[in-house]
Amino acid sequence: MARILITSAIPYINGIKHLGNLVGSQLPADLYARYARARGNEVMFICATDEHGTPAELAAAKAGKPVADYCAEMWAVQKELSDGFRLSFDKFGRSSSPQNHRLTQYFAGKLAENGLIEEVSEKQVYSVADGRFLPDRYIEGTCPNCGYDRARGDQCENCTKQLDPTDLIDPRSAVSGSTDLEVRETKHLYLRQSTLKDQLDAWIDGQEGWPILTTSIAKKWLHDGDGLQDRGITRDLDWGVPVRKGDEPWPGMEDKVFYVWFDAPIEYIAATKEWADAEGLDDSAWRRWWRLDEGADDVRYVQFMGKDNVPFHTLSFPATIIGSGEPWKLVDYIKSFNYLNYDGGQFSTSQGRGVFMDQALAILPADYWRWWLLSHTPETSDAEFTWENFQASVNKDLADVLGNFVSRVTKFCRSRFGEAVPGGGAGGAREAALTADLQARLTAYEGHMDAIEVRKSAAELRAMWAAGNEYLQEAAPWAVFKEDPDQAAAIIRLSLNLIRLYAVLSAPFIPDASATMLTALKAEDAEWPDDVGAALDALPAGHGFSVPENLFRKISDEEREEWQARFAGVRS
Ligand code: 2FM
Ligand code: ZN
Repeated sequence: MARILITSAIPYINGIKHLGNLVGSQLPADLYARYARARGNEVMFICATDEHGTPAELAAAKAGKPVADYCAEMWAVQKELSDGFRLSFDKFGRSSSPQNHRLTQYFAGKLAENGLIEEVSEKQVYSVADGRFLPDRYIEGTCPNCGYDRARGDQCENCTKQLDPTDLIDPRSAVSGSTDLEVRETKHLYLRQSTLKDQLDAWIDGQEGWPILTTSIAKKWLHDGDGLQDRGITRDLDWGVPVRKGDEPWPGMEDKVFYVWFDAPIEYIAATKEWADAEGLDDSAWRRWWRLDEGADDVRYVQFMGKDNVPFHTLSFPATIIGSGEPWKLVDYIKSFNYLNYDGGQFSTSQGRGVFMDQALAILPADYWRWWLLSHTPETSDAEFTWENFQASVNKDLADVLGNFVSRVTKFCRSRFGEAVPGGGAGGAREAALTADLQARLTAYEGHMDAIEVRKSAAELRAMWAAGNEYLQEAAPWAVFKEDPDQAAAIIRLSLNLIRLYAVLSAPFIPDASATMLTALKAEDAEWPDDVGAALDALPAGHGFSVPENLFRKISDEEREEWQARFAGVRS
C-alpha cells in the first residue's frame, strides 16, 4: 500500500464548466483516484475553485453581486455538479479560504526572506473617480486598428489586435465609465524565478517518464527566447489574498493582492488543510501529505491539468516551493491533456459554445458522459466531441456490450433457475480459455491504469466486456439448457460472477452502474481481484441476486438530432 496525493487543476469560479474542462483534469483525476483507492492505496484527492482575479470580479459585477457572495454561490453550484459527475474529491476547497490566505502570505514571506522577491516600480493607469489602479482589461476605449469603440486595454475583441491601455483612443474606466484617468507610478512585487532556472532545469531533467507534452512545454519556457522571466505576483485589486509577509504587513503594498496564479496552486496545500480542519483533525493530518519532514517523503504526488496549465505547474509553482527553502512536497508526475473540441469548433466558455456540465446531467446520467469522455480523452492529440460518436459509443459499448450482458444473464437465470446463483455442472476448456484471456487483459488494464494511460485503459476494459459477451454467445446456455441443465447452470454461474468482476473493474469509469451491479448481485466483496479464476468463484451456488434495472438505455436518432440542434448555438 502506497500513499498517493492527487490534485486536479482548480476550475475558475466564474461560470459552469463545459465538458472540455471536465475531461481536461477533474475527470481523469477522479478515474485515477478511484483506481488508486480500489488497489488499496491511501489516497488524498484534492480540488477547489479558483476564485480570485479579474474574471471573478467582472463576473460578479455582471451578476450585480458582491464578489464574495458571487463566489460562495458559484462554489455551491460547482460542488453540486462535481457531485453529480461523481467526482470523488476528499476535499473540494476554495482558494478564497482563510487557510489559503494564510499559506499564500506565508510562502511570500519565506520567498522574501530568501531574497527572491523584488519590488519594481511601474507606470499604470489610475482612475481618479474609482480611486484605484485599473488592470488592463478594466480599461475600455476605441481600437486604433479597427475603430471598434469597446476595445479592452489588453486586446480588441473585434479585430483581436493585442493592445496596451495607452494605445486606446478616448480611454475610459470599465468600472465606472469615467474618463478621468492618469498614468501613475506604482510598486509591484516580482518573484525572481530566473535565479532558480538551473535548479528548475535540473529538477525537470531528474524526472523519469513524464509525458512528452509536459516536459516539452516546460523546456520551451525555460530555454526559448529570453528564458525564464521574473514574474509579477501582485495586482491592484480588492478581491484576492492581501499582500503580507507572513504575519507582517508589507509596507507600500497595503492596497494590493497577490496575483491569482500565485495563490491558486498554493490552494492545493491549503485545501488539504481545509479538509483536516473540516474533519476536526490537527495539522499533522494534512502536513503528512505535504511536508517531507513530517511524513510526506513516502507520498507519490500526481497532478492533472490541461496543457495550458503546464508552465505554471512545471515552473512557477515549483519556483514557489523550491524558493521557500523548506521541505514541501514537489510533484512527482504531471499528467497533462490536449483539448477536446466540440462538433467542428472549440468549446468556449465566453461564447457559451458546447455542452456544459449542468446541461449534460440534465440529459443523461453521469456514467454515460464519464464513459464517452474518458474513452475519448485528448491524450496524444486534441479530440473531438460529436453527437454521432457519442451516440455510437453509448449504444455500442454501454448498452449492447455491457448492459446487454448483464440483462441477458440475470434474466435468463431468473427464468430458468430462479434468483440465486445456480449449482451443478463444471467449467471446461471454454471457461479456462476465458479465464486466461481475462487474466492477461487484467494485467494489461492495471498496467495502463498505473501509467495513467486513460484511453488504453478504457479500450482494455471494453475488451474485457466484449470477451464476456463472446463467451456467452458461444456457450449459448439457452440452447444447452434443453439438453444439459447442469452445464447451463455452470455457464450462468460463471457469467453472474463475471458481472461482479465487471462491477469491480469498471467502477473507476462508471461508478453508478458498478454500484447497481453490485447491489443486484448482493455482493459484499468488491475487492480488486488478484486472480481472475478465484474472482469468478466468489459468488457461490445458492447466493441470491435480483435482476437490475436496465443499466444503460440507447440513444435514439431523434434524440441525437434534437440535442445536436439544441446545442448548436450559444448558451445565453
Ligand atoms: O486554467 C484554469 O482553469 C485555472 N483556474 C487552473 C488553476 S490550477 C492551479 F494552479 F491551481
Ligand atoms: Zn480593433
